[in-house]
Amino acid sequence: MQTKKEKNRNETSRQTFIESYINDKRKNKSPTFKISPEPVVKWAGGKRGLIEQYSRYFPSNFNYYFEPFFGGGAVFFHLSSLGLIKKAKISDINSELINMYIVIRDNVEELIFELKSGKYYNDKEQYYKIRAEEPNDPVLRAARLIYLNHTCFNGLYRVNKKGKFNVPYGRYPKDVKIFDENNLREVMLSLQNVEITVEDFEESVKEAKKGDFVYFDPPYAPLTKTADFTSYTKEGFGENEQKRLAEVFRQLCDKGCYVMESNSSAQIIKDLYSEFNIITVRAKRYINSDPSGRKGVDELLILSPNLLESA
Ligand SMILES: C[S@@+](CC[C@H](N)C(=O)[O-])C[C@H]1O[C@@H](n2cnc3c(N)ncnc32)[C@H](O)[C@@H]1O
Repeated sequence: MQTKKEKNRNETSRQTFIESYINDKRKNKSPTFKISPEPVVKWAGGKRGLIEQYSRYFPSNFNYYFEPFFGGGAVFFHLSSLGLIKKAKISDINSELINMYIVIRDNVEELIFELKSGKYYNDKEQYYKIRAEEPNDPVLRAARLIYLNHTCFNGLYRVNKKGKFNVPYGRYPKDVKIFDENNLREVMLSLQNVEITVEDFEESVKEAKKGDFVYFDPPYAPLTKTADFTSYTKEGFGENEQKRLAEVFRQLCDKGCYVMESNSSAQIIKDLYSEFNIITVRAKRYINSDPSGRKGVDELLILSPNLLESA
């Protein structure tokens, strides 16, 4: 256990490090200081490719930012690089993922040191060795997640019933980039003043108030009737969860928050949000009927009434 004195000393050296990092950045780049963080992990349903279509609907000014289905956090990092985020709370139900963000926020240099230790290289045997490990130390857990995410099959995250990561080895070039040291520091800067929690979405946004911006990116409702909801319950997101989310969405709108949600164009979503403004966006995603994935698929962006007014 850290004593209070040690904690204060660590906090002071962290602040000193951040200040000198920012000063170096200012010297080397333009005088107007800007950060440019990008997602650290590839995440199923990542929103990078859609941000351009979303951008005209983002509020230009808001108080707190909430993102309770954080995943790879593409929207947060985008808003951060525009300088729009003053204070934020980000969360996800996935505790390994959240541990990684906390480590990046509070301990990025130790994480970079670990990732550079020579242990994290793309090789099948090494992959299965690291996959089998169960470190307790937060820094080792974060390094392991970043490594597995960049070397496993399709960057998927899946665990078995015992909670053990079970995605097989992926097919990437031997020299695939596992991490980007500079980006980790940019992400560290973007996470200062950010509350980071492992939480269910409903709990996470309880404190949201008028003028705050809440962005929801839940696991999507399945598009076809045959792809039944039960296949989603492994992730704990079935029909009841979609209904619970729609109720939370409505409550936040009533409070006067700016609320935005991405979801699939499944009929249940159109029904649950029929009273709101729904924008159709085109995503370049893999779908069964189009193996090339070139045609893409329609997805929905649901907006609180005050967002459309500000667009
Ligand atoms: C579609 S992904 C988010 C993708 C993210 N926006 C991005 O750009 O990478 C959905 C996330 O919701 C999380 N999740 C699932 N059920 C949840 C719940 N009940 N509460 C909070 N998060 C949940 C999953 O762990 C997953 O990271």
